[in-house]
Amino acid sequence: MSTRNKVITTLWLLSTISALTRNIGIHAAPTECKYMESSIISRSAWGAHPPKDRFTFDGPAPFVIIHHSYKPDVALSPSCCRKSMLEIQNLHQKERGWSDIGYTFAICGDGNVYEGRGFNVVAAHAPLYNNRSIGLLLIGDFTDKLPPQSMMDMAKDFIRYSVECGYLRKDYILYGHRQVRNGTDCPGDAFYAEIKKWPHWQEDVKDIA
Ligand SMILES: *[C@@H]1O[C@H](CO)[C@@H](O)[C@H](O)[C@H]1NC(C)=O
Ligand SMILES: *[C@@H]1O[C@H](CO)[C@@H](O)[C@H](O)[C@H]1NC(C)=O
Ligand SMILES: [Zn+2]
Repeated sequence: MSTRNKVITTLWLLSTISALTRNIGIHAAPTECKYMESSIISRSAWGAHPPKDRFTFDGPAPFVIIHHSYKPDVALSPSCCRKSMLEIQNLHQKERGWSDIGYTFAICGDGNVYEGRGFNVVAAHAPLYNNRSIGLLLIGDFTDKLPPQSMMDMAKDFIRYSVECGYLRKDYILYGHRQVRNGTDCPGDAFYAEIKKWPHWQEDVKDIA
């Protein structure tokens, strides 16, 4: 094959592969996005039960909604964190009858990010926002105390990572759960006061209904 034909063939292959991955909805994350992967604990690694059903949505999400678990409280070791994730998944799946754990991702006190439903999967953490947000849980009761600083740093890193990888819009809006749902104190009084100082927090809630 001539050099020119090789170039043409290569370009054709590349465009075909990228069209195929687009069509089947795989987000081809750029390689610079891999930097957090060692801190992200996949569903299989924490022993998640399979979802009863699973729907995806397109494009980078415009919102991040911050939650606390209330119960269980802060966990500090990987084994306690796995146990907390299973406890939350069981509550949502078995007691509440949802298809899966409600949140998109969770930050735990062992310094890791636990995969919940995962990016671009319709979740169950805030009505109207489930198909256009990352529902980010910090495991613990933050009514009277803040999450450990390391958890808050990790949450901010993870949000930045989500933007850099194209899962979250650059102009995303960050809300506390209580802003989009009446009758909940989530993410706890102490933590809610803190996230008001975080990048992209917005007081006004857009009417998206
Ligand atoms: C999310 O769901 C609502 C109602 O179910 C729908 O009106 C809206 O268009 C959906 N948004 C996205 C981004 O899919
Ligand atoms: C909460 O209730 C207030 C007062 O009834 C209402 O104005 C607001 O829209 C409600 N917010 C949500 C997220 O439902
Ligand atoms: Zn919440």
